[in-house]
Amino acid sequence: MLIVSNWKAYVDSSKDALALVKAAGAVAQGEHTLVLAPPAPLLGIFAAKGAVPKGVYLAAQDFSNAEGGAATGETTAVLLKGMGITYSVIGHSERRARGETNEEVAAKVARALSHGITPIVCIGEPERDAEAQYLGTLREQIATVLEPLSKADRARVIFAYEPIWAIGKSAAESIQPDDLHEMVLYIRKSFAQYVPESAALKIPILYGGSVEPANIASLAQGSAVDGFLIGHASVDPVTYRTLVKALG
Ligand code: PGA
Repeated sequence: MLIVSNWKAYVDSSKDALALVKAAGAVAQGEHTLVLAPPAPLLGIFAAKGAVPKGVYLAAQDFSNAEGGAATGETTAVLLKGMGITYSVIGHSERRARGETNEEVAAKVARALSHGITPIVCIGEPERDAEAQYLGTLREQIATVLEPLSKADRARVIFAYEPIWAIGKSAAESIQPDDLHEMVLYIRKSFAQYVPESAALKIPILYGGSVEPANIASLAQGSAVDGFLIGHASVDPVTYRTLVKALG
């Protein structure tokens, strides 16, 4: 499975970051791919020192749509790629809440791909409604990203289904495995509009939203997800190791 740690702004010292990188190294021998997404300045420290253990990869939490040059304060895709960053989270709901649009997300996805960075695109509805209009929200988020891409590039995108109502809570308030399974099937069906069915089956779908030691195994077993995007539970070294080990 692909296990992505979204450190958000929880981790704010290189000491804490080092402890987490070490924790990842300790559980990296298994079959899972471990990806750490630190805040950008910490990303710089690890990429520059080559301090990331084997089997552990780095992701940016976001980057700029600016190509480079006169763009004060922006972190570009070229810069990330040059530092050896292999993934980037794109369109996290906390970025969208600050005004990022579907179109900006789509532009970042295309930019990431053109620079050899694998995009992990967050999609998810703010809330559920009885008329299932939230499915339209998801379809639109997927369409805006995939439509402009070539068929080959469409197959290189990773999606993270992160229902906003489930983020930053507890395992008890997270999604249930059956419900997640339904969503994974729905999202996969939506891919089939943009890529051949064989490719649609292979696009990784992660789940994020209050994944904790108490629910990670049941979510993995009952839902057909390809991995997880984990926030608050990923920033304590002991809890992090428990999460990875729970997946076997
Ligand atoms: P959470 O965050 O695990 O703290 O709910 C997940 C995310 O927002 O990526």
